[in-house]
Amino acid sequence: MSGPPTGRPPESGREGSPGSAGSRCLVVAIDGSAGSGKSTTAAAAAARLGFRHLDSGAIYRAVTRALLDAGLSGAALDAVTPDELAALAVDVRWTEQDMQVRTGGKPVPEQALRSERVTAAVSQVAAIPAVRAHLLELQRTAARGPGLVAEGRDMGTVVFPEAEVKVFLDAHPRERARRRLLQRGIRPDDAEIEAEAVLLTRRDQRDASRSVAPFLQAGDAVLLDTTALDPAAQTDAIVRLVEAARGSG
Ligand code: DC
Repeated sequence: MSGPPTGRPPESGREGSPGSAGSRCLVVAIDGSAGSGKSTTAAAAAARLGFRHLDSGAIYRAVTRALLDAGLSGAALDAVTPDELAALAVDVRWTEQDMQVRTGGKPVPEQALRSERVTAAVSQVAAIPAVRAHLLELQRTAARGPGLVAEGRDMGTVVFPEAEVKVFLDAHPRERARRRLLQRGIRPDDAEIEAEAVLLTRRDQRDASRSVAPFLQAGDAVLLDTTALDPAAQTDAIVRLVEAARGSG
């Protein structure tokens, strides 16, 4: 079931069977709010452990971009059909531990994933049940090789409910806002931080109140408050949890 991730050409996420219980792939599910340190920590932990890193948000962003490019918006976006989603040919290619999201057979540039128009629409797209159903198997097929660090909003609750390690990252909204603005190259003042904190909180509330796969902490997830933790300390905490799981497994 688990295939070696090294020394092979890029592998498509749509091929083969999904990772599942019984696979030797150790899954670390990291969920958390925007700006909680999820992406940096997940990437660093995956690199330290030699595991794949699944950025599920990037997949939702790629779908959003493709749907917007296809001219869908508003109610038409909400009514997207499984056939229309299949026509986008969303796929994930793996080279060693690194993922690349593709639509229509072409890689989606990182800059396009993070554009303002995609960021403004992705929460609406991520709330569409047909979209979530369409992406479920693609995400599960990432669980190959020795391990997977999967980050998102529903990793521990829906996509990998059997994950050996589950972590929920959170931080104070103002700290999360400050980090997001710094990431964008802005040295924010208090007013900018406050305004960004309002936007982040609103997006989290939308993600938490949707009917499918709402953004919630899994009952068996370890809560890590990162407000006063730097990325190295967050990564250490996750690696320790993985070592403990390996020790008990
Ligand atoms: O982590 P991010 O900012 O790239 O996520 C983009 C959006 O996708 C955000 O609104 C939350 C949503 N998302 C989701 O609903 N489920 C996931 N597993 C990952 C992201």
